[in-house]
Amino acid sequence: MSGRLTGRLIALGVTGSIAAYKAVELLRLLQDEGAETVVLMTPSATSFVGPLTFEALSRRTVERDVLALLPDGRIGHIVVADSADAIVVAPATAHWLAAMANGLAGDAVTAACLATSAPVVVAPAMDGEMYAHPATRANVARLREAFGYTVIDPESGPLASGQVGIGRLAALPAIVDAVVAVLAGRPVRSPEPATRPPLVPRTALPDLDGRRLVVTAGGTAEPIDPVRFIGNRSTGRMGVAIAEAALDRGARVTLIAGLVSVPLPERARVIRAESTAAMRSALLETLVGPDGRSGFDALVMAAAVADFRPAHPVGTKIARGSALTLELEPTPDLLAEIGRLARGLDGAGRPLEPAPVLVGFAAETGSLDRVPGKLRAKGLDLLVANDVTEPGSGFGTETNRVTVYAPDAPPEPWPLLTKREVADRLLDRIARRLDERDTAHRPPLTVVAQETRP
Ligand code: CTP
Repeated sequence: MSGRLTGRLIALGVTGSIAAYKAVELLRLLQDEGAETVVLMTPSATSFVGPLTFEALSRRTVERDVLALLPDGRIGHIVVADSADAIVVAPATAHWLAAMANGLAGDAVTAACLATSAPVVVAPAMDGEMYAHPATRANVARLREAFGYTVIDPESGPLASGQVGIGRLAALPAIVDAVVAVLAGRPVRSPEPATRPPLVPRTALPDLDGRRLVVTAGGTAEPIDPVRFIGNRSTGRMGVAIAEAALDRGARVTLIAGLVSVPLPERARVIRAESTAAMRSALLETLVGPDGRSGFDALVMAAAVADFRPAHPVGTKIARGSALTLELEPTPDLLAEIGRLARGLDGAGRPLEPAPVLVGFAAETGSLDRVPGKLRAKGLDLLVANDVTEPGSGFGTETNRVTVYAPDAPPEPWPLLTKREVADRLLDRIARRLDERDTAHRPPLTVVAQETRP
């Protein structure tokens, strides 16, 4: 992510081509550039990709009916037209190009383009003969010359018809680059959020439906004797916020709780595990299913697990004396151990299937310099780091200012947020990783482009 669209609202218009499935990835690429997004669809586009997919990813209602009103009575496609910084129509069918060239506002995509003063980028996709037809050529020329739209020519390659020709949707990075280019030099507006199409509350998104999440929360207590222990300042608030947010989004949650001072969600399966050793057993039991496959989709290790414990805890209360020296031994690093187990590096030799998403936390004091090393050493997909000495961050606070590290992206500093907001943003990333994992396992789709009538 390089943030070339940070602060922008990009409207993505999807029309009825089989290349509509590529619009899902395009939406993500636009978001990776920092854009907020809203999606408009023609009726036939909804036969290729369900609006719910776009709704969950954009977190905005998909505009697909020119007559539809927002809950506050405003006209949906007009709000998009007024608030979008750019509209990109991809894929654009021959039929849509013709409707647009003639100003026929029968669908939400055309209507928004007619009503906007924002730049419009169009990426056609269709059969080669259709693209070569004089009617289509004339429509494209009109969009370019009379309307000032940027039209990205389709590429040559195999088409859905079985033929080879010019008609494949242009490469997605080229479409993103074109959107960035049309906005170059235009100041980033700081719009009132209320002028943009409203965000759908995350709780209404079933994007973790049926996913199995294991979350650890709270601090560990390492016994010195039956009365005393070594503990830490963790309250469990961050882990519990993650568990609650995941439950609201449809996940099945196992919450492994150490010492906590906040109520635990009743909807979760709760396992109490106060010491590092107890937490280790609970994790190992939960993470590997009886068939040896992954018993979970993601582990979020928000617990503050001890790094040292008394080497020789005693079974009776230690009486007062003149002095007491405790010998401490290192605890096993649970997250690193699970990372090895998940990747098949623990001696058992077989990686867990399906590959779980592993998320760690790093509570640092003063600097985050050590975090990238921890991400690598523990083999994590995401590492949420914060400086617990910063005001408003760390133990016992309602808020947190974190920086999120991933192996394949630059660190992402988030603003000061409530712990629930941190939880939801983190779950956005986890949901996305899980979707990518599942997509990677699906056989490739070989059909490339197809024209249908809207
Ligand atoms: N963690 C763990 N087992 C431990 C200690 C920590 O699984 N014995 C997990 C924590 O739950 C957290 C992550 O590892 O998700 C980071 O812990 P942290 O203490 O910051 O990292 P360490 O590797 O212990 O490094 P250091 O003590 O040097 O900061």
